[in-house]
Amino acid sequence: MRNRKPLMAANWKMNLSLDEARDLLNGIKSATIDYNRVDVLVAPPFTTLQLAQTILTETDIFLAGQNMHWESKGAFTGEISPLMLKEAGCSHVILGHSERRALFFETSETVNQKVNAAIEAGLIPIVCIGETLKQREDKKTFDIIKTQLNESLKTSCKKRNLPQTVIIAYEPVWAIGTGKTATPEMAQEVHHFIRRWLIENFGHNTGETIRTLYGGSVKPDNIKALISQPDIDGALIGGASLKVDSFLSIIQFYKS
Ligand code: PGA
Repeated sequence: MRNRKPLMAANWKMNLSLDEARDLLNGIKSATIDYNRVDVLVAPPFTTLQLAQTILTETDIFLAGQNMHWESKGAFTGEISPLMLKEAGCSHVILGHSERRALFFETSETVNQKVNAAIEAGLIPIVCIGETLKQREDKKTFDIIKTQLNESLKTSCKKRNLPQTVIIAYEPVWAIGTGKTATPEMAQEVHHFIRRWLIENFGHNTGETIRTLYGGSVKPDNIKALISQPDIDGALIGGASLKVDSFLSIIQFYKS
């Protein structure tokens, strides 16, 4: 029996005005959610963090940044530091999302630096990995996943030490925003591979404690099948997290 509490994490990406954000956050806040059964997290754009912090204060909902720099301050125009995210109320930060990797040339090496900086600052990293369609068709999925894990968590691997709070998000690039979801079995296969890698590198306790989220076209109608897989511990949700109704029915997967 899995001991890991599911986490439903909303990745808003570059969406929603302040008014739209206020409505969505108030909608989530006023819903009846059994926080003993599910953790909920929201990752809005940076300029919405302060509003989100105000609305979500004294709720059980976690707040995350969508990215950050690894340095604590300095001449890095356009960047944001771990401490700034913490000051804005974040407990978590999404790192190495495939859109960051593909569109903003982030590498697993810089993701590794960011993971270290997040841990150091007391932020919980949500480390994203995933293969492209071409890589899957070439049957390279497991090689790619392994390389991304080895490189994105390089320092922790060397130390053979990773905080058990760290979260891994498996997001097949071909499933993000496309409406194509990996079947629950396909996703489980990769999640199981990630679990074995975690156990190999950080031992049984840590490997069995770390949560692995699935991301890529998660919707109210596929969440149940995904979350019932033994190694899928929640979801990173883009499009379907932007509307109160669809996000709530994902969060409340345990109801039906
Ligand atoms: P999607 O995005 O749910 O819109 O596919 C997921 C993500 O990129 O985290």
